[in-house]
Amino acid sequence: MYVAHLSLTDFRSYAQVELPLEPGITALVGPNGQGKTNLVEALGYVATLGSHRVPTDAALVRAGASRAVVRARVIRERDAGQPRPTLVEVEVTPGKANRARINGGSPTRAREILGILRTVLFAPEDLSLVKGDPDGRRRFLDDLLVQLTPRIAGVVADYDRVLRQRSALLKSAGAAMRGGRTGADLRTLDVWDAKLAQTGAQIIVSRRALTQALAPHVEKAYAQVSSGQGDAVITYKASLDQALGNDLGDDDASVELVEAQLLEAVGRLRSKEIERGVSLVGPHRDDLVLTLGGLPAKGYASHGESWSFALALRLASYELLTNGFDEAGDWGPDGEPVLILDDVFAELDARRRERLAELVAPARQVLITAAVPGDVPEPLAGARVDVMGGEVSRVL
Ligand SMILES: Nc1ncnc2c1ncn2[C@@H]1O[C@H](COP(=O)(O)OP(=O)(O)OP(=O)(O)O)[C@@H](O)[C@H]1O
Ligand SMILES: [Mg+2]
Repeated sequence: MYVAHLSLTDFRSYAQVELPLEPGITALVGPNGQGKTNLVEALGYVATLGSHRVPTDAALVRAGASRAVVRARVIRERDAGQPRPTLVEVEVTPGKANRARINGGSPTRAREILGILRTVLFAPEDLSLVKGDPDGRRRFLDDLLVQLTPRIAGVVADYDRVLRQRSALLKSAGAAMRGGRTGADLRTLDVWDAKLAQTGAQIIVSRRALTQALAPHVEKAYAQVSSGQGDAVITYKASLDQALGNDLGDDDASVELVEAQLLEAVGRLRSKEIERGVSLVGPHRDDLVLTLGGLPAKGYASHGESWSFALALRLASYELLTNGFDEAGDWGPDGEPVLILDDVFAELDARRRERLAELVAPARQVLITAAVPGDVPEPLAGARVDVMGGEVSRVL
């Protein structure tokens, strides 16, 4: 697939901008702060409904405006023959539910557009996938999941709501208990435990399946971008297993089994949870563990190795989105995702830069941001768009 046109209204620094695009390689070139990343961030938003730079939407809306609109014309070539353009439009209104429209139809929930545009975005922030906290790695898995199986976005939203309500209840149960009262809150808590287990189990099972499918691609991609020392291994670590005292998680456990395990775990942790007023077990406490040659990447890997690992995670995502991973066909391929490389080359040494450029060059569409044309490696020579002072212009 590729994006044929991107249009922004009140998104970041842009009041209005139109960017026509072609398949193949395009470099967005301009000095610092001119709005290159803002353009590719908008595309990433259409694919995942999130930004790779900020956790909430407020900063995405142009200062002084109340909502931003991102429109993308996506050409999907799934069926050989006539490519079908799909016009995707999403309206970002901080503090309110975002709305979307597909092909100019009536407004729907934003998450209806998930799965239409698929992107893999490489950015300087990726280093924190290796060096940072678990929430970045959970987000990595979930962003990939919603592109592969858009249905999961609804489950994640339900789970987040359950967590919020359950935390409020745990806090009030704690206060009641300290005041010498018990009763009502605890019965309601049973209901929320069941909801947490039901939605949480689906997320855990999906993430485990994704991790298993990614693992061989990560190992291969790591060997390609690094000097080939040590195997890069990823495993899913569920807080549930820790709570139940299991040494190893069962990556093939069914949703039903995981749901039962979660219920048991919250049962065991109940008094502790009430005491602390937080949910202590579930997918929001899980992690994707990265190891290199048997040692945890975080805290042990060198800077260069960490970068190779981060690149390997993105390259593996690209591989999976391109080829699908479910033999039953449920999570099947839907055309190559659009590859976005935001300022990554400046971060890499010559060898990694070269390897990465070779690996991504053949993709259907590659968008690269760079401060000067010389930052774009030779194998990625292609079209060029200058970005300057809020204006974009194709260089002929
Ligand atoms: N919500 C917003 N409203 C108005 N301007 C914004 C908003 N968010 C970001 N900006 C502006 O956008 C500019 C940054 O744009 P962007 O990050 O795309 O730059 P860039 O071209 O990628 O630069 P670099 O080469 O340094 O990465 C900054 O000048 C910033 O002030
Ligand atoms: Mg930038």
